Amino acid sequence: MLLTDIIRTKRDGGALTDAQIQFVVDGLADQSIPAEQISSLAMAIFLNSMDFSEAGKLTAAMAGSGTVLDWSGEELDGPVVDKHSTGGVGDKVSFLLAPIVAACGGYVPMISGRGLGHTGGTTDKAESIPGYDTAPGYEKFKAVVKEVGCAIIGQTNDLAPADRRFYGIRDVTATVESIPLITASILSKKIAAGINSLVMDVKTGSGAFMDTLERSREMAESLISTAAHAGLNTHAVLTDMNQVLGTTVGNALEIQEAMTFLRNDKRDARLDKVTITLCAEMLVVSGIEIDRAEALRRCEEAVTSGRAAEIFSQMCSSLGGPSDFVENSAKYLATAPVVQPIYTTGTLSRVDGRALGNAIIELSGGRQRVGEEIDWSVGFSQVAPLGTVLDGERPLALVHASSDEAAERAGNRLLEACATEPEVQMEAPVIIEIMTEAT
Ligand code: URA
Repeated sequence: MLLTDIIRTKRDGGALTDAQIQFVVDGLADQSIPAEQISSLAMAIFLNSMDFSEAGKLTAAMAGSGTVLDWSGEELDGPVVDKHSTGGVGDKVSFLLAPIVAACGGYVPMISGRGLGHTGGTTDKAESIPGYDTAPGYEKFKAVVKEVGCAIIGQTNDLAPADRRFYGIRDVTATVESIPLITASILSKKIAAGINSLVMDVKTGSGAFMDTLERSREMAESLISTAAHAGLNTHAVLTDMNQVLGTTVGNALEIQEAMTFLRNDKRDARLDKVTITLCAEMLVVSGIEIDRAEALRRCEEAVTSGRAAEIFSQMCSSLGGPSDFVENSAKYLATAPVVQPIYTTGTLSRVDGRALGNAIIELSGGRQRVGEEIDWSVGFSQVAPLGTVLDGERPLALVHASSDEAAERAGNRLLEACATEPEVQMEAPVIIEIMTEAT
């Protein structure tokens, strides 16, 4: 089989056969197909899409391209459930959600991704915790999940290796925003992780890969129906990504915000709402709780009682991080040499999330090339929510950078990414819809 024929078929709008898809996935996994051909195929799929059957085959083939975990021998006394997000800006939900759901009786083996396009990656954020091992090996991973109830690690070399390579190439070739490619990428990893049920956080808005509600619904439907076809019960929560989730963007800054939340020191209202809603949906989809209201109550209590913080501590130290990290996170996290406030005036009426995510990449908080090192310390903090009246006293945000020049550039990017009006009424509900089945 020739890859050029496969690319040509897709370029001309045709459908790929199962055998062609399997050939591509095998070549991705064993590296026999060079990156330039993969990127060309990715662009052809991006432009001409894939039908349900092609996306299903791509999902199954990528899931089977490496190790598939099996939890049945672990004698767990609760369901194995996970959450995945389609990618956003300032999204630190996983660090809160995994211990909250574990506190409520779920087991959360979270295999997370790195930054993709303009969005940040949970693995990169976790690695800003000194000593925290995002690649502990399966035996250790399983042992931590069993003992603690959750573990957040990075994608391993042998779990959906075809997706791992595809993801890295898509990240740097502007081919991320494709519904079938995102569906196959996310679900292949989740199926390979051996979970029983899944909640998808499908983001919508300027900081999401899907910037319209219509495309986000389409994304959610694709995920729910493709997952159901593969036997994975999945619910989707459509959440707003027209502004930063919480008040920080950037690896170490987001971890710091997550720890502040777990300590019950400060819980940003939108971050709180998204986190607790997703956690409750995980209890519902996995059968831990039938009643959504009760599920919400239990998740809330897991935070206020400090139980989620305890579980995070156990997870962190089991994976090599400091045992007092939750209490003393500021002592451990990298800080940037330059921190500058950025001012503007008026009522904040628009934030271009994608531009903000790109500003983080320019600060070296994300990658421009596959495998590039990133700077944990950079980003934005105290980011004002939409509707904030900026009067010259309250900054739009603080920029954290490695030099004065980088701070100035990022500050300008931030100002370009935001708009203000003299007076504006902002209504921005963060939970848009919960979808339990495809229509
Ligand atoms: N998250 C993934 O894991 N893959 C994508 O393609 C997009 C978001």
